[in-house]
Amino acid sequence: MSLHIEAKKGEIAESVLLPGDPLRAKWIAETFLKDAVCYNNIRGMLGYTGNYKGKKVSVQGTGMGIPSTLIYCNELIKDYGAKKLIRVGSAGAYQPEIKLMDIVIAMAASTNSAINKSYFPHADFAPTASFDLLMKAVAYAKDNGISFKAGNVLSSDKFYEDKKDSYKEWADHGVLCVEMEAAAIYTVAARYGVDALAILTISDSLVNGEEISALVREQKLVEMVEIALHSF
Ligand code: ADE
Repeated sequence: MSLHIEAKKGEIAESVLLPGDPLRAKWIAETFLKDAVCYNNIRGMLGYTGNYKGKKVSVQGTGMGIPSTLIYCNELIKDYGAKKLIRVGSAGAYQPEIKLMDIVIAMAASTNSAINKSYFPHADFAPTASFDLLMKAVAYAKDNGISFKAGNVLSSDKFYEDKKDSYKEWADHGVLCVEMEAAAIYTVAARYGVDALAILTISDSLVNGEEISALVREQKLVEMVEIALHSF
């Protein structure tokens, strides 16, 4: 058992899906995994281990934002031996050509968080996806006719921005969308030599203010989770 996860050693797989929402973790376990067993309910941050096409896979909620996500990733890697982490989450579009429900694979994750400033006070570290996981995700999506965009995303510390146009600087540098966790997952994975990837579904647009209801999301969520599960 670690501080925030009550699983025993061996109860968590080396391959872990990371949705932000713990209820999404439950849905993924019930929808995709065979013989899924819940191993964590501390703070309601549900985690499950089951089987996907013969492979042991876990799915662990991370909560929202970098601090919460870092807690779970650190414990998964250091206390439970996780080797492959794939975030499956939602994001807000920063580019007009990125539409609601599009899937974005995060090659890199810029951030306005200070997580890496203590390591690199006078420089910028570039949190990047695992090439291996990225290639597998791209190959699965292409082979199965699932359209996607791939590029740089922003992992922001703020969901609500005070200035309406503050996204434009990132957009002008080609950043595709905003979410709140990927940069932390890529950084902690790099530090401990494991693989990480973030696959995102667009739930809203900063460009035109559109958003989708939770209900409509489900079909694309299936595709996103399938890409992730086939990338392990
Ligand atoms: N996740 C989904 N939409 C988002 C947004 N607009 N900002 C940050 N994270 C998000």
